[in-house]
Amino acid sequence: MSIKKYYGNWGGSFIPEVLHETFKELSKAFEQVRNDPAFWQEYLRLMSTYSCRPTPLTHAENLTKHFGGAQIYIKREDLNHTGAHKLNNVMGQGLLVKRMGKTRVIAETGAGQHGVATATMAAKFGLDCTIYMGEEDVLRQRPNVFWMEKMGATVIPVRDGSRTLKDAINESFRDWVTNMDTTHYALGTACGPAPFPEMVSWFQSIIGVEAAEQILHQHGGLPARIYACVGGGSNSLGIFQRFLEEEKTELIGVEAGGLGLDSGQHASRLCGNDASAGVAQGYKTMFLQNSDGQMLDTHSVSAGLDYIGVSPILADLWEKKRVRFAAATDSEVMQALDLTMKKEGIIPALESAHAFVQAFKEVGALSAEDAVIINMSGRGDKDIFTIAHAFDDPSWKQFIIERGRQYSR
Ligand SMILES: Cc1ncc(COP(=O)(O)O)c(C=O)c1O
Repeated sequence: MSIKKYYGNWGGSFIPEVLHETFKELSKAFEQVRNDPAFWQEYLRLMSTYSCRPTPLTHAENLTKHFGGAQIYIKREDLNHTGAHKLNNVMGQGLLVKRMGKTRVIAETGAGQHGVATATMAAKFGLDCTIYMGEEDVLRQRPNVFWMEKMGATVIPVRDGSRTLKDAINESFRDWVTNMDTTHYALGTACGPAPFPEMVSWFQSIIGVEAAEQILHQHGGLPARIYACVGGGSNSLGIFQRFLEEEKTELIGVEAGGLGLDSGQHASRLCGNDASAGVAQGYKTMFLQNSDGQMLDTHSVSAGLDYIGVSPILADLWEKKRVRFAAATDSEVMQALDLTMKKEGIIPALESAHAFVQAFKEVGALSAEDAVIINMSGRGDKDIFTIAHAFDDPSWKQFIIERGRQYSR
């Protein structure tokens, strides 16, 4: 099977001349492994012994009772090693890097989950590792920065632009152009120039393959709907791909509605009216940009959804109306998080909680015979500072003040 560059009107590979050979080498290596069933077996072995695959599918009985409609199932990517789906992609790319004989990896990160996953992979495979992270995200996700550094990675805060994910991606490309002989850029989502969208989605497809088998076994039929949050698109495509041909399963991508779609302070590209077609960061998709093609500042309570572009594969599925898109606001996310913690004892990442919001709005209208799956892309421990601040928790505030005092003594 050869690698697709375009998905309908979207995708492509708009890269500087100097990177052509590197992309050719990467595409060739990816094509070889994708056509080699032994590679997928090696990948499955690694993920089941080093990570926690297959991750469980949990029947959320209390939430189901609470809403009184469809049976709610949660795909537990939070139980994957490092606490999110990000490791699926990174370990796959790690195996590829070993085959290509490179010695250094770089990556961008927003929520820090992809950075932690990449630092983990680099430690396991003995690679040098540099992570680029917007300065704003360094502040929001300090615990993840700590762990990346402790695993031996160098974390470089990016001070350009809005100091978030798009700026970290730009900086990673700059690094790659100067170090391509030794370095692989382990892009963390299904965006960027070909072959990244296809390669990242392929490694993430493990989520949907497992989920299909699990729901058939546990519920006795395919789900009526699947909900997943959408940053760049890797966890959503990871679960959606297996179900694309299952016409009875509706697929719903949930973007960051931030302070509301009318506020201009959100990161919704396929839902709402603020995005338009454009080419940036090496690919064509719907971008949040102004009429001069300058990227807009985005806003979301979750660092991992705070991005201007979206996977070209999702843009195509949106245009073909195979995936429906919705947006969840910051405050809706906090309510869904609160309810999920109290009813199920599960703490979703702020990113994942966007998918919960939309599912909670809709399950009541479905029948008890139906099942829905919410893809819980990651766990919320990393978000403790943001969540405690949003809940205005007084004892947590006191704890932080005390800690601050201890350090300034
Ligand atoms: C836990 C979690 N979920 C979702 C995302 C969004 O990325 P994607 O759309 O590629 O799954 C991120 C990104 O950092 C993340 O950390």
